[in-house]
Formats: sequence, structure tokens, C-alpha cells
Amino acid sequence: MKALQITGYGEIAKNVDIREVGNPEINDNQVLIEVHAASINPIDYKIIEGAMKNIQKLSFPAPIGFDVAGKVIDKGDKVNDFNLEDEVYARVPTGAAGTFAEMIAVDHKAVCQKPTAMTFVEAASIPLVGLTTVQVFQKADLKSGDKVLIHAGSGGVGSFAIQYAKSLGAYVYTTTSTKNVDWVKDLGADQVIDYKKENYLSFINEVDIVYDTLGGEYTKDAFRILKKGGKVISIAGDPDNETAKDLGINGLIRFLLKLKRFKIDQLANEKKALYKFVMMHAGGSQLNDIKDLIENKNIRAVIDKEFPFSEAVSALEYVQKGHAKGKVVLNMK
Ligand SMILES: NC(=O)c1ccc[n+]([C@@H]2O[C@H](COP(=O)([O-])OP(=O)(O)OC[C@H]3O[C@@H](n4cnc5c(N)ncnc54)[C@H](OP(=O)(O)O)[C@@H]3O)[C@@H](O)[C@H]2O)c1
Repeated sequence: MKALQITGYGEIAKNVDIREVGNPEINDNQVLIEVHAASINPIDYKIIEGAMKNIQKLSFPAPIGFDVAGKVIDKGDKVNDFNLEDEVYARVPTGAAGTFAEMIAVDHKAVCQKPTAMTFVEAASIPLVGLTTVQVFQKADLKSGDKVLIHAGSGGVGSFAIQYAKSLGAYVYTTTSTKNVDWVKDLGADQVIDYKKENYLSFINEVDIVYDTLGGEYTKDAFRILKKGGKVISIAGDPDNETAKDLGINGLIRFLLKLKRFKIDQLANEKKALYKFVMMHAGGSQLNDIKDLIENKNIRAVIDKEFPFSEAVSALEYVQKGHAKGKVVLNMK
């Protein structure tokens, strides 16, 4: 089969190409999925750049891609919850990347029937951003009426998170640039701050939760607008110590992270606030909850661009620019 392979760390165009590889073999607990669509996430280009080396070092050539929607074409002897021809979607478990390929073997526990009304392209756009957001708002214990700031409402994560937070009854602030303000409002955000024209810190205060999708200074600034006892949950900042341990990050790097996080930990203490980094994980049953939400709460997929598999490099470069409006998906058919 054809599969996109990472051949080294560095520039995308020089370090990935589509190659002929052997078909995947399934074990007793896996399903074999014929990939119809696979969405791109920033983690994909970050892995190519080498930014994830501390967490998982690759041996090359390495497969790439975490999100998938497609059809079950084979299954292991112990798989009873799927049948051949089932239309499914999944975020494959960390360490089992490889959805930018014609087929992928995935543990059945990470797989779920795809939302019925969605196309494969739409369904492939959901798993990673959907699971991340559900896990972030679980960690934040978001309740109806909470005031939440979701940074980058026009991104892959933000465009799902706005809809999800609204479905839970939150009051949603979000940031984006001028060209995106109107359509982000249409997703349900209560207040959209145009970061090209306005400083969000002047418009927002006393929020219960900041969903930090940007990292850097945004993580520190979150504490300026957070109410006492609030929560800053980051997916783009520095891991807190507990999460760093869970991720298997070694003691020396954890110590360096602690030094780097000094200001954040101090700000969190001053506000009696929670600072937590979430590294999302795969899960078929949580994807099933998301499927229900999509079908009953009108959460929709937000697709910026579709690329054919042959243009995977351009698709990755497009996402790397950091200005996608929703999700970018490889259409494999
Ligand atoms: N820890 C985890 O498990 C986890 C899971 C998922 C994602 N992530 C990380 O979370 C981050 C966001 O992911 P994503 O998929 O949403 O990325 P993305 O789709 O590439 O985000 C692009 C969006 O960010 C917006 N943006 C850029 N700079 C901004 C700023 N200063 N203020 C407001 N909006 C800004 C852009 O809007 P404009 O074009 O208007 O600038 C664009 O719409 C990435 O770093 C990703 O790696 C982590």
C-alpha cells in the first residue's frame, strides 16, 4: 500500500514522502481500516520538526497521522464490537501513528462508529480535537454558566471547543483575527475579540476557565483575567510536573521544565488557581459520546481545506503556517 513516511527530522518537504510499504497486519484486538479520510493536526508537523523527540524518538522511516475515518475491512479474532464494512472514525493511540496511508490497523478500543450524517472527510476532522476538548473540560470540571476563554476560536481545536462549551451551557469568549470574526460568532461564541485590533486582556475578566491553545505569554497572561480559584488548562504550554511524569519525561528535563514554569506556578499560587497541561489520549467510548453530541446537539465539522493524498506535503505545510480556519483533511479516495 501507499503510505506517507517521515524519513528524518527537519523541513517538511525534505523529510516526508509517499512510499510503497507492506500492508498492515492486525492482531487479535485490532481492526483493519481502509482509510477514506485523515485529518492533519499540528502534532504531525511538530513530530517532523523533531519537537516531540523528548517524548517519543522515531526510528526512520516512520509512519505519520493520528486521525482517521474509513471502513473496517478486516478484524482480529477477539473483536466483537465491529463488523466488516462498518464506517468508523478514530484517533489512533499514541505510538501507533500512520493514518496518512491507504490502510491502518487500530486497536478496537480506540475506534467508534462514525457519526451517521457526516461524510468521511467531516468525521476524520473530529477525533483528536474532539477528544482533546472533552478531556480539557473534564479536567476543568466545566459547569453550565461558567465563563470560559477559548483562545484561537478559528483553529481546529477552537472551532470544536466553542461548540462543545456552548452545548454544556458555558459563556464563551474567544480570540481570532479580523477575517474570522463573523464565522466564529456563527459557531456560537458569545464574545469574539479580534486580536489584530483589540487586546483581549482589556475586555475579559474574572473568567472561570482559560483553555490555553496558544502557550507562551498567553499561558502567563491567563492568570491576569482568571477569577480566584479558577483554572488554566493548557494544551500548548509547558507540562505541569505530574503530567510531565505521566508522559515519561526524564528527571533532568522535568527539572528544567520546573524552572521554566516558575512564573506560572507562582501566578497559580497567588490566585489559588489550577494550572494543568493536558496531553490528550485516544478512546473509543469517549468518541462515542462525541458522536452522540454531534447527532443530538448539532455540533458540526469545520473544514477549511481538503487535499488529495498526493498533496499531503502541501497540506502539512498549510497547517504549519498556523492560520487554518478549522480543519485540514486528506481525502484518500
Ligand atoms: N496537548 C494536546 O493533547 C493537544 C491536542 C490538540 C492540539 N494541541 C496543540 O494546540 C494548539 C492548537 O491546535 P489547533 O489544531 O487548533 O491548531 P491550528 O488549527 O493550526 O490553529 C490555527 C488557528 O490559530 C489561530 N491563531 C493563531 N495565532 C493566534 C493568536 N495569537 N490569537 C488567536 N488565534 C490565533 C489562527 O487564526 P488566525 O488565522 O485568525 O490568526 C488559526 O485559525 C497546537 O499547538 C497543537 O499542537 C495540543
